Amino acid sequence: MEKVFTEYGIDTVVHFAAESHVDRSILGPEAFIRTNVLGTYTLLDVARKAWGNRGDVLFHHVSTDEVFGSLGDSGYFTESTPYDPRSPYSASKASSDHLVKAYYHTYGLPITLSNCSNNYGPYQFPEKLIPLMILNMLEGKPLPVYGDGRNIRDWVYVEDHNEAVWSIMNKGRAGETYNIGGENEWENIVLLDRLIEITAEESGKDPGSFKALVTYVKDRPGHDRRYAIDCSKLKTELGWKQRFSFDEGLRKTVRWYLDNQIWCSHVRSGEYRNWIEKNYESRGV
Ligand code: DAU
Repeated sequence: MEKVFTEYGIDTVVHFAAESHVDRSILGPEAFIRTNVLGTYTLLDVARKAWGNRGDVLFHHVSTDEVFGSLGDSGYFTESTPYDPRSPYSASKASSDHLVKAYYHTYGLPITLSNCSNNYGPYQFPEKLIPLMILNMLEGKPLPVYGDGRNIRDWVYVEDHNEAVWSIMNKGRAGETYNIGGENEWENIVLLDRLIEITAEESGKDPGSFKALVTYVKDRPGHDRRYAIDCSKLKTELGWKQRFSFDEGLRKTVRWYLDNQIWCSHVRSGEYRNWIEKNYESRGV
């Protein structure tokens, strides 16, 4: 990293890199501590040493709404909601957020931070709910719904997330956190119904055959019930807003997975197969 910073004269870091999957963090937390905590520390420290007192640089840290814990039936996460992480994944992201803020206060490193809700769209690794369900439908495999399927997530299309990060990098205030969300809450099981309809329409298959694959399985330990983001700070301060409706985003996503079967078969081979089998085994699928 030191070499990269000096050789390429890096002046901006957008730190998207992370171990990001909650189920993986439950089966093996260590990689999450190494990548998310030590990895973030490494980048921060190299940036601090390379940049000294420069004010024309920026370290933007991409984080998650999961650091705030779980909501009841009402209310939203704001930038001032106290941290309350529940999984090894969210605890590791909370830790990295604290390090980023500490480097701002202690060393004056110019930082911004964003906490985003659930992403979906092209190229998402098929361990996550939406691509997993699309690919399992196409392969006639079970669609595993954790617990009662009533957990709620707030979904934002990946391009909307990226545009929000771009606005923060260009117009955000140093030292500030901005929440990013879709303002688009769905129970998992309701989302899955809609996804089944769209995948059936786009693939020309019978939705009934997909519905028959829905399988309720053992719940995720410590499964957060509801996430919902209040992103009014980002909207009013920086003028960002979501561009994609959920139906539009889901349809684009389904089409992308249908059109990119070679990419899908590559990422679903090798190590991925071992992981998914381990995950299914732990849930009794
Ligand atoms: O909220 C932001 C977070 O969203 C990100 O910080 C994480 O990196 C990202 O993985 C995502 O976390 P979730 O745990 O919410 O995403 P996931 O796609 O794993 O699960 C979404 C919901 O669907 C959750 O309630 C668990 C449920 N689920 C998931 C899978 C993979 C199922 O019912 N069945 C499944 O097979």
